[in-house]
Amino acid sequence: MSNAANADVLELTDSRSGSQYSAPIRTEGPEGDTYMRAMDLRPIKREASEFGLLSYDPAFMNTASCRSAITFIDGDQGILRYRGYPIEQLAENATFLEVAYLLRNGELPNQTQYDSWVHDITYHTYVHENIRKFLEGFRYDAHPMSMLCSATAALSSFYPDARDIQDPQQRYISTIRLMAKLPTIAAFAYRHVKGLPFIYPDNDLSYTENFLSMIARMSEPKYEANPVFVKALEVLFILHADHEQNCSTNAVRAVGSSHVDPFSAVAAGIAALYGPLHGGANEAVLRMITDIGDKKNIPAFIESVKSGKGDRLMGFGHRVYKSYDPRARIVKKLADEVFAQVGMDKDLEIALELERIALSDDYFVSRKLYPNVDFYTGLIYRSMAFPTDFFTVLFAVARVSGWLAQWEEMILDKEQKIARPRQIYIGHGERPYADGLSEKFPKARKDSIRK
Ligand code: ACO
Repeated sequence: MSNAANADVLELTDSRSGSQYSAPIRTEGPEGDTYMRAMDLRPIKREASEFGLLSYDPAFMNTASCRSAITFIDGDQGILRYRGYPIEQLAENATFLEVAYLLRNGELPNQTQYDSWVHDITYHTYVHENIRKFLEGFRYDAHPMSMLCSATAALSSFYPDARDIQDPQQRYISTIRLMAKLPTIAAFAYRHVKGLPFIYPDNDLSYTENFLSMIARMSEPKYEANPVFVKALEVLFILHADHEQNCSTNAVRAVGSSHVDPFSAVAAGIAALYGPLHGGANEAVLRMITDIGDKKNIPAFIESVKSGKGDRLMGFGHRVYKSYDPRARIVKKLADEVFAQVGMDKDLEIALELERIALSDDYFVSRKLYPNVDFYTGLIYRSMAFPTDFFTVLFAVARVSGWLAQWEEMILDKEQKIARPRQIYIGHGERPYADGLSEKFPKARKDSIRK
């Protein structure tokens, strides 16, 4: 990665004062990203006493919050790479734990590094029995994301040493614990809602086989997972492992920037992922398809989306991808493999027809709304017998690898400080307190409270 010279400048004239300013235009990285530093706006002011010019960017539409070497996305070209490797090649050839190692360490592991990484994760899959009891305390119909979020936050209290985030050993073991224990907590949440006994981890199995075992094993002494499902889960975990500065990753970075322990920061990421505009979208896709109910209802549904009166077409559109989400392409192929095994169903037919219509309708085409990764993942998960409200949990189990890589990068980045945006204040100017005493809150009542 090159740090290019700052030969280019942006010349600015402040029409209020006629003052001239110049801000370096910086070019960096293999793709030649150009940017200016927002702090270069600060000297723009009419008088020395002024604060200086702010940039206003709700929802970070055009603001980079960090310099990152982890994931590259070109939303117009539909490109996604982890540490330079195209997502298509990783999905085809790598294991999920290999990808998790790559995200955190920057390079693919050699055999020794891989074995030790897998060993460490495998041997930390058990959770303290109090976590099991904690999960048992939830209502029978608790959403598994609430359970996952709370139990992950609770893990922080079991590992007080994790607060020493400047110690690389502590960061490593916390990473291992989070990678190892999230599938266990997720599976326990699943079993709790089903009223089934918890299945403890089986260290003989691979990461995904063990996860499926903790989910589905009944009385058999050894669980044998369906190899098509194991492969599907492995690929889906890889596709969801990281996605640069998305809402939940930003939450992990922002909360982690206070130097809280990583369990608490990851719990914040899980909370962000829970929302229907983010990780909850595949759940929303299935509900939408169920509501549509039949292919003949699709045209009316599309019209209601376009009118803006109905819901959005869930699973379509993306803040970054303005062409086909490369993950959606892989997922669609995977769906074919899974459905070849379990059989095509009515909902998949509705999804295919929705996609066909939307891709040829000017409303979606002109807004560059294409299927995102979540359009088909829900259908795959359901065909594997996962309940709808568990889909986001599967996303979280995968994304924790990216959150931890991004958290580590943030902690090691000397330029990062506690995340603290500015605001444009649009409230009242100064006014005297006495004005606030109204008929709604008579002085006599207030005096009685303050007595
Ligand atoms: N269906 C219908 N119209 C849409 C959709 C959609 N899914 N998405 C965007 N639009 C329209 C908007 O109404 C808007 O139209 P307008 O210009 O006429 O007002 C235009 O497209 C731009 O939309 P924005 O909301 O400004 O786009 P933004 O980048 O903020 O939103 C988002 C991205 C939240 C993903 C949005 O496309 C959406 O709500 N999609 C459905 C939910 C979804 O699938 N989320 C999963 C995202 S992927 C992930 O998190 C893993």
